[in-house]
Amino acid sequence: MNWRETQLSDFPITFDWGKKNRDFPCLKLQILENYLSDKVNGTTKIPRQSSSSAKKKVKKLKATTLMKFLDTQKENKDTKDKEESREDWKNLLIWGDNLYIMNSLLGKFANSIQLVYIDPPFYTGSNEYIDIPIGVGKKRKTVEQTPSPIKEVAYQNIWSEPNHAKTFSRWFYQRARLIHKLLKREGFIAVRFDYHYGHYAKVILDQIFGESNFLTEFLIRRMYKPVSNKALEYQQHLIIQSDSLFLYRKTPDAKYIGKVKKKKRSNPDPIEHESNDDNVWMDIVGYEKRKKTLYPTENSIKLLKRIISLCSKPDDIVADFFCGSGTTTAVAQELDRRWIGADLSRYSVNEIRKRMLLNKDSAKYPFQLLNLEMYNKHLMYLRLKKKELIAESQKNYYKFILKKFGGNYVDGFDHLQGEKGDAYIHIGDIDSIISPIGIQKAIDELKLQDKNKLVILGWDYFMEVNFFKRLFQEDQKIDVDLRLIPQSLLNNSSDERPFPELPFLEFSQTVDPKGRTLTLEFDKFFTDYHTNMYELDMNQINSLDLIDFWAVDWDYSEKDLFVAHDYSFREIGAGRKIIEAADTKCSHKYDEPGNHTIVLTIVDIFGNETSEYFNLLFR
Ligand SMILES: C[S@@+](CC[C@H](N)C(=O)[O-])C[C@H]1O[C@@H](n2cnc3c(N)ncnc32)[C@H](O)[C@@H]1O
Repeated sequence: MNWRETQLSDFPITFDWGKKNRDFPCLKLQILENYLSDKVNGTTKIPRQSSSSAKKKVKKLKATTLMKFLDTQKENKDTKDKEESREDWKNLLIWGDNLYIMNSLLGKFANSIQLVYIDPPFYTGSNEYIDIPIGVGKKRKTVEQTPSPIKEVAYQNIWSEPNHAKTFSRWFYQRARLIHKLLKREGFIAVRFDYHYGHYAKVILDQIFGESNFLTEFLIRRMYKPVSNKALEYQQHLIIQSDSLFLYRKTPDAKYIGKVKKKKRSNPDPIEHESNDDNVWMDIVGYEKRKKTLYPTENSIKLLKRIISLCSKPDDIVADFFCGSGTTTAVAQELDRRWIGADLSRYSVNEIRKRMLLNKDSAKYPFQLLNLEMYNKHLMYLRLKKKELIAESQKNYYKFILKKFGGNYVDGFDHLQGEKGDAYIHIGDIDSIISPIGIQKAIDELKLQDKNKLVILGWDYFMEVNFFKRLFQEDQKIDVDLRLIPQSLLNNSSDERPFPELPFLEFSQTVDPKGRTLTLEFDKFFTDYHTNMYELDMNQINSLDLIDFWAVDWDYSEKDLFVAHDYSFREIGAGRKIIEAADTKCSHKYDEPGNHTIVLTIVDIFGNETSEYFNLLFR
């Protein structure tokens, strides 16, 4: 035991030294979409004609979707030292737990990232519950979005009773260690925390990066004015106005690149002697005053500009694995850096996607949206821990869900756990999403039984899973019924909910055969993804106000990638209090006769996706 370990044993922190920390699995990342480019695999997409009847808010772009694996584990020895060229590079937006994401990125990105900025949850819970506005004008309502089951389970891992400090420390230590591995020798990490756990984080960072690599603690002013009296009540005595931003270098090779330019005060305080190179950054605010997104803890652009300019140069890779509203990725792009952003929350990933699509340089800098492949955490735990105990509790979990669903437990399969009528049932783990790969594995087992009906019960789903459902139906003749496990089961609520379907859209198609024009008009949108939806009186709400974003490919080909020819999303209006709804109508004129496949992707206000897919023949 070395000195530091002995000292640390006095803290309520126990570090999980050694091998145990390597227990977390490495998952593959699946590339999903938003590959914004007119050049895909060397083939240039033909720009589509703009449609005259679509309302002007509907935007045109060339965006593509693809679905394949990003082979992050295959370390390319040739490019490792040379680094990937800017032309080959695609920025990455990844949905999932950053522990698995970072571990999965190690193969390709170890020793590659110049700056990691993170602003992890502070134990205030403020970014777990988000007030989401629905509708416009007087009819506007808000619904509080509670964390998804996956997020709830993840947060329990950080703030589990009775010893928060210990669980927080383990949680943070594992992630900080991975960031250390991802950073270049000349790289930096900037970590924002508040008074709750900042001190623990500092000790952990000292441990991982070395005390001599600690550069400074910047003092960040949260806002110019206290947000509300609530803060005062909460703290009882004083309003907390500052956060800490700890800056470490990976090695002494890391040198500051830019300079901090502070705003000259018109009426300088004679007692304060602030200079450009001191650590008191009170001339700017840490949270955004004029918010770009509906995200509650949006960091300020000025803060990110300052830290990114100080620690990186154009073309460097800047990453944020707690990306929230995407301030880091937006500023990195503005400053001509490459970026990697990740977040556990679907809502956040959707906010970032919109933010990056709106960015004026979105066509110049393509980005890929990635999901982790099937987590299958219980199988990993089975490998690692007490097998019998876990197998038994897993079985009880399946039986509990099946009882609520009215199905029976079946033994002897890896990916099928129940049956109901003539269908087999696959159940997702509570801390995992259902992915197309997971569904395919269940289908493979189903086929061996000569069956063709599969019910999936999941807590959360891979983005665009509905689109894959169509492919399973058409290509493999398997009827897949995707259901959500109601969140009320998690809270042990006596309030029994049905297992709802994934969101879907009812829409009408008007075809003008002579003019070869197709018009889509949205009629009704149905989303039951969220528990709090039950609290809303749907008679009072225009269901189309629940749509946050949609995109359409007028001529999808399976060999090809999804191209978002038209899209629209709700935006914060000029008055900032007004939300402008997404458009609900679009049309397209086809130049050539023939068979066309149309794919429409819709994201609801909570960040959940669904797709519609149909064929049309123009003679
Ligand atoms: C304080 S917010 C970050 C705000 C961000 N800096 C911005 O400018 O909007 C923290 C974010 O961390 C995410 N998060 C928490 N635990 C995570 C995990 N294990 N993996 C990935 N993201 C996580 C939350 O979903 C939340 O969006």
